[in-house]
Amino acid sequence: MENAKLILSGKEYELPMFSGTEDERAIDIRKLRDMTGAITYDPGYGNTGSCRSAITFIDGDKGILRYRGYPIEELAGSIRYSAAAYLMVYGRLPTEPEFLDWRKQLTLNSFVHASQVNFFDNFSALAHPMNILGSMISSMSAFYPHDAEDESDIDLHIQRLIGQVKTIAAFSYRKSVGLPYIYPRTDHSYAANFLRMMFATPAEEYVVPKVMENALDMLLILHMDHEQNCSTSTVRMVASSMSNIYASVSAGINALWGRLHGGANEAVLNMLKTIADDGGNVAKYVDLAKRKDNPFKLMGFGHRVYKNFDPRSKILKTAVDDVLNEMGIHDPLLDVAKSLEEVALKDDFFIARKLYPNVDFYSGILYRALGIPTEMFTVLFAIGRMPGWIAHWLEMRADPDLRIQRPRQIYIGEKMRHFEQMNLY
Ligand code: SDX
Repeated sequence: MENAKLILSGKEYELPMFSGTEDERAIDIRKLRDMTGAITYDPGYGNTGSCRSAITFIDGDKGILRYRGYPIEELAGSIRYSAAAYLMVYGRLPTEPEFLDWRKQLTLNSFVHASQVNFFDNFSALAHPMNILGSMISSMSAFYPHDAEDESDIDLHIQRLIGQVKTIAAFSYRKSVGLPYIYPRTDHSYAANFLRMMFATPAEEYVVPKVMENALDMLLILHMDHEQNCSTSTVRMVASSMSNIYASVSAGINALWGRLHGGANEAVLNMLKTIADDGGNVAKYVDLAKRKDNPFKLMGFGHRVYKNFDPRSKILKTAVDDVLNEMGIHDPLLDVAKSLEEVALKDDFFIARKLYPNVDFYSGILYRALGIPTEMFTVLFAIGRMPGWIAHWLEMRADPDLRIQRPRQIYIGEKMRHFEQMNLY
């Protein structure tokens, strides 16, 4: 492949280039500073590749999303979340025996450590479920010590993380509503176990409705990975210092919490409720979102990579109609969401900036139909994303180019000045 040429202060430099499986091209600037003394500047890293990855491919212009080469449209709704998790983590679909054993191991390792369960008794009643989730996942390394250099038991740690993330979520909900904990069963799928752990009562058998199990399965798969998004890049950043997998993933959970990232699904529902309470006047809020003098944005709209429809949003929009019809639910917020989308997609401001609904725009309507409380929507995002974070942690650790991540900066502070003795004691 041809080299890139850079002319700086009259001198010409050549920088090597390379391309990936889908012909994306990169300029290798690893020697740029040594050669030129200059660095690049790219706040938000919109033009900067941090790694080479074989996990997920996104084409933002064409609205393409593939996990390990499989189009998301072929996976969501066709296989169980636990099978997709195996694909994500190990790079291939499991055989049927492997799948059954893997799902059983996920369940057997999904019990929160007996000494850690009482942590739920000591969180403030005001604690957000994402606060509890991040704290509990980080604390797991105290109960399952994991030396990031020792890969021998990594599969067990992976099973504990994927298994227990749903148990921690369900237990934090049960604690918040004063209900006894429900424990998982090996004869239930991952999604069915989660719904049963959330909504069953010990007083009688609870049969998880298939429509709910399948809807949650699809939601979790759609959220499983998205290449170098904010939370996944955070997991990689922390992993690069040789932090253990629990510490790295809990850092990702905290990055996901932000309302510009995974927190957007909760913010979308609250936005739809505000618009519905305001007479459903969507034009007013579309106009508000365009104003520079106001921080309001249409939550669930826009994306750093997708400048076309987010393929996940297209799948979710169809699924919302199907699931709500099958469950006999009419949610007025869905009407508001559809009306908001229709108005925004015809508005020049959104058209010019290629702002389309993203994965968070419709997901909350579906979570709500499943009975998930709004403040737990981002927790559900984290449950779905767990296998993706793990896959990136593993890939990073095996990367021959692995170096601790340490970006540079351009200093714009004070020039050197000298301390004049002052009485500051
Ligand atoms: C996720 O990265 C991933 O892959 C993330 C994710 C994943 O699976 O991991 O896909 C999940 O986080 C989806 C995004 C969820 N967040 C939201 O829905 C929050 C609302 N969206 C915006 O905050 C925004 O679109 C971002 C954060 C998603 C993207 O921000 P960018 O790429 O930095 O774009 P930008 O803020 O520079 O916006 C460019 C222009 C600006 O206007 P101008 O300055 O050019 O006039 O578009 C405008 C922005 O003001 N704009 C919006 C808008 N999003 C961008 N205006 C109104 N409403 C919006 N939602």
